[in-house]
Amino acid sequence: MHKPPSIAFAKLSAAPKKGTAVILLGEETAPAASVTPLDPSGTIGRAMAAAKFKGGFGAALDVWAPGGTDFDRFALLGAGKPEKRDETGWMRLGGSAWPLVRKAETVAVILDVADGEPEATAAASFALGLLLRSYVFDKYKSKKDVKGKAREDDNGKPRLSKLTIHCADPSTAKKAYADAEAVLGGVFLARDLVNEPANALGPVEFADRAKELEELGVTVEVLAEKEMKKLGMGALLGVAQGSPRGARLVVMQWNGGKAKDKPIAFVGKGVTFDTGGNSMKPASGMEDMKGDMGGAAAVAGLMHALASRKARANVVGIIGLVENAVDGNAQRPGDIVTSMSGQTIEVLNTDAEGRLVLADALWYCNERFEPAFMVNLATLTGAIMVALGQYHAGLFSNDDDLAGKLLASGTATGEKLWRMPLGTEYDKLIDSKNADMKNIGGRYGGAIIAAQFLQRFVKDTPWAHLDIAGTAMGSPASDTNTSWGSGFGVRLLDRLVRDHCEA
Ligand code: BES
Ligand code: MN
Ligand code: ZN
Repeated sequence: MHKPPSIAFAKLSAAPKKGTAVILLGEETAPAASVTPLDPSGTIGRAMAAAKFKGGFGAALDVWAPGGTDFDRFALLGAGKPEKRDETGWMRLGGSAWPLVRKAETVAVILDVADGEPEATAAASFALGLLLRSYVFDKYKSKKDVKGKAREDDNGKPRLSKLTIHCADPSTAKKAYADAEAVLGGVFLARDLVNEPANALGPVEFADRAKELEELGVTVEVLAEKEMKKLGMGALLGVAQGSPRGARLVVMQWNGGKAKDKPIAFVGKGVTFDTGGNSMKPASGMEDMKGDMGGAAAVAGLMHALASRKARANVVGIIGLVENAVDGNAQRPGDIVTSMSGQTIEVLNTDAEGRLVLADALWYCNERFEPAFMVNLATLTGAIMVALGQYHAGLFSNDDDLAGKLLASGTATGEKLWRMPLGTEYDKLIDSKNADMKNIGGRYGGAIIAAQFLQRFVKDTPWAHLDIAGTAMGSPASDTNTSWGSGFGVRLLDRLVRDHCEA
């Protein structure tokens, strides 16, 4: 896993007098804030005036070898207007700081927040954003670990290994950061899993990775084909039958709550590669389907995060792992399978496989655990990308309260959701002549039809489905992520648990 620089917190008065200092300047205080004890001769103010730097959000200005000091560099970073500096604002600022400091040796961040601004949240969010941005997936690059030294970047320079944030109350900031750090590990795990190529990560290998969560105190059970067959999971197994790599259902449990508390559950689509099966996808872009387990990756990452920070909640994580491949045994269009629920499904398109996997995973979850609510995540449809692009995931829910909480968590973390409709008219579109339902509907509303399909497997349990096809992978570079796999969903759901499910 990516090893980010370590973060320390210290008093403003303990800031070093050399190396690189990142100085955050809000629009409202600049240039008054430029008068800092680190800069006795007012170089910052002069540089700001000369460069017309006004502290705009994310703007950067480098001042090398500032006069009257022993510093190598002041890296000024605009912190914008106070109203922009909420949690996600601070996180984005931290992300923007990473490219400025990644090659430096000693870095001190001077975080002198405005009066009344919650410093601990600012510091923790800034650190989280910076570390999220620092993530790289380079395990398959052979140039690394030279002579046991820290990994080098593309230019052969070692990456920054330690950074200190200076603020008024470092011990409170450090406490706030401890939780952020736990979540960070979960996001990195999810990103790693999504970025990993499918030759290295099939259902069995993914299950092995999930098993490693036992080290954090998570209970992990792995069901193989035989057990799933016994349970009657014909929908999930039908997808897997064209691949020699087997299928797994992983059941993870974190019991941090009271014994009497009903668990909450998260369910992920884990198609480790989606060729489309006999309804094969076109060659162009098919490589992206190594990321078709982004939902399962988010659930594994979430369990990692919750266990790392010892969340006070009982949480179940279930992932259905299959490869949707083609061989002579692969499922054909027109095949009819029987799901664990007993409902039969006519598989009219073998590329609409995620819903088949989730049908059995959701049913199993609901029957076995009777959770207070279930949230599933899936890179389920291209249609959700047509509808929402890459900046919102689609939210479908049978429960307004749960939907509202999810929307709020999305806003708070910047992992944004947009609610989409469900309705009986859409549900009718998947009625089948030959079976209880078919796995595709008409030409329009593909993301909604997929959601309707899932809803047939959740009974009356409060449930939400997040279609993350547009947000889990191939996301445009942002302030806090430049990797192909984004880890979308980990921070969002950690927040949901934290705000609504912990005592
Ligand atoms: N895994 C895909 C959805 C997808 C597409 C995810 C692009 C990420 C990027 C899913 O299994 C799929 O193939 N869905 C089909 C459904 C259709 C056959 C009804 C789709 O969206 O085209
Ligand atoms: Mn598919
Ligand atoms: Zn798929």
